[in-house]
Amino acid sequence: MTQRIYIFDTTLRDGEQSPGASMNPEEKLRIAKQLEKLNVDVIEAGFPIASQGDFEAVATIAKEVRKPIIAGLARAQDSDIDRCWEAVKGAARPRIHTFIATSDIHLKHKLQKTRDEVLKEIERAVRRAKKYTPDVEFSAEDATRSNWDYLCKAFAVAIESGATTLNVPDTVGYTVPSEFGALIRHLRENVPGMDQVVISVHCHNDLGLAVPNSIAAIEAGARQIECTVNGIGERAGNASMEEIVMILKTRKDQLPYETGIVTEHIYPTSRLLSQITGMVVQPNKAIVGANAFAHEAGIHQHGVLQEKLTYEIMKPEDIGLLSNLLVMGKHSGRHAFRDRLKALGYDLPAGDLDKAFQQFKELADKKKEIYDEDLEAIVSEEILRIPEQYRLVSVHVTTGTDTQPQAKIVMEVEGTAMEGTQTGDGPVDAVYKTIAKMTKTKSKLLRYSVNAITGGTEAQGEVTVRLEEEGQTVIGQGAHTDILVASAKAYINGLNKMAYRKHRRRPRTGMVGP
Ligand code: KIV
Ligand code: ZN
Repeated sequence: MTQRIYIFDTTLRDGEQSPGASMNPEEKLRIAKQLEKLNVDVIEAGFPIASQGDFEAVATIAKEVRKPIIAGLARAQDSDIDRCWEAVKGAARPRIHTFIATSDIHLKHKLQKTRDEVLKEIERAVRRAKKYTPDVEFSAEDATRSNWDYLCKAFAVAIESGATTLNVPDTVGYTVPSEFGALIRHLRENVPGMDQVVISVHCHNDLGLAVPNSIAAIEAGARQIECTVNGIGERAGNASMEEIVMILKTRKDQLPYETGIVTEHIYPTSRLLSQITGMVVQPNKAIVGANAFAHEAGIHQHGVLQEKLTYEIMKPEDIGLLSNLLVMGKHSGRHAFRDRLKALGYDLPAGDLDKAFQQFKELADKKKEIYDEDLEAIVSEEILRIPEQYRLVSVHVTTGTDTQPQAKIVMEVEGTAMEGTQTGDGPVDAVYKTIAKMTKTKSKLLRYSVNAITGGTEAQGEVTVRLEEEGQTVIGQGAHTDILVASAKAYINGLNKMAYRKHRRRPRTGMVGP
């Protein structure tokens, strides 16, 4: 009989802890709504005590995303648990996820506590959480490097205290599939009451084994998998949600399990996340990488044209990938445009839709074939927009093999038109120096990357920049058929986000994350 595997998505918590993936509360809400469409079972929306922003994001998601369970993370401390409850209590189905480390390494060097003291903390934390909600998850951080007998005791205490889900994290990505499967079986056989709770696993990818370890755990009896979209997360990331889901779907003959995931939303979700965070998916990434369904070799192309089964084990449509097909053209109407955007996770209000449609028509005049990626680039300017302190009016650059590049930029700064000119080492450098001078920014440019959104010389170029100022980093993005215009737009978009963030910044709680 096929057994149900619960997908616990931690993109907004562990995923967001990965360098460069930080999102503001509005961006988190967009991702949470998309995760709801994907039909994940649990969304771990954040770590409420870590900052005011995290608290707000969790509380907003709890109120607005009603179908999945909404979990918040809390250390095994009263203040964390109380704050977590404040954030998740508005959810239709709230969960408190509390954790403490159980390995001797962590006990000695991080917690400076004895094993007995930690058992008492587990009991106190789970009981406190249980007073708020019946749905309490307990995680034994660094479980895979913990003493197995002690881990059994820790889980037994958590069950007696009322935990309903027990999570076994491979916090440092150290275990291997055979060992992890054996650990899960050992826990099932040795922890009283383990058959009454859901066993969960949470694997990190330091040795590239997060997905194989999760699959081994499922075969050994785990029923909840903690994972992230695109596998983002601390260091080398977490288990990739799309890989686990598609492994279970594609190899049902070997793995008789199913998830509730609507797989057609996988690709749009992956794109939305990388649009928002600016974290580009590596082209050869399984399932959602740009090359995952691209057949380059002639012999493969020939085979696939004759019969897809020759080289394709999954259908691109199953993950919602239609980008090999021409999706829109100059004659496409507003309805088709709106419907395709909806499928990509963008449900625009009428005013934004009109503006985006206008931009689409302008692009369609320049570019014959318009793909999903082009639509995303257009719409992200509408969707992810923030109040514009700076607005680009025009860019003019002279450059060549024997001329020093010079940029002339016209911009509106808080509604007033200004013009500036600078030279630079290259055309982009000239553009950036001009904008920096005009805006008097103190932000440092940490990263600049260009991506051709679709093939061909008339393709749109998508530029992503990462800026840093006073310890805050933001991502700026811009797309245009002219790469210098895209560069200017990305920089200005980043500067607008930085200005917006400064304006919104509120006093922090002074608490820190794990
Ligand atoms: O990796 C880890 O151990 C965690 C826990 C907080 C579940 O993220
Ligand atoms: Zn983790």
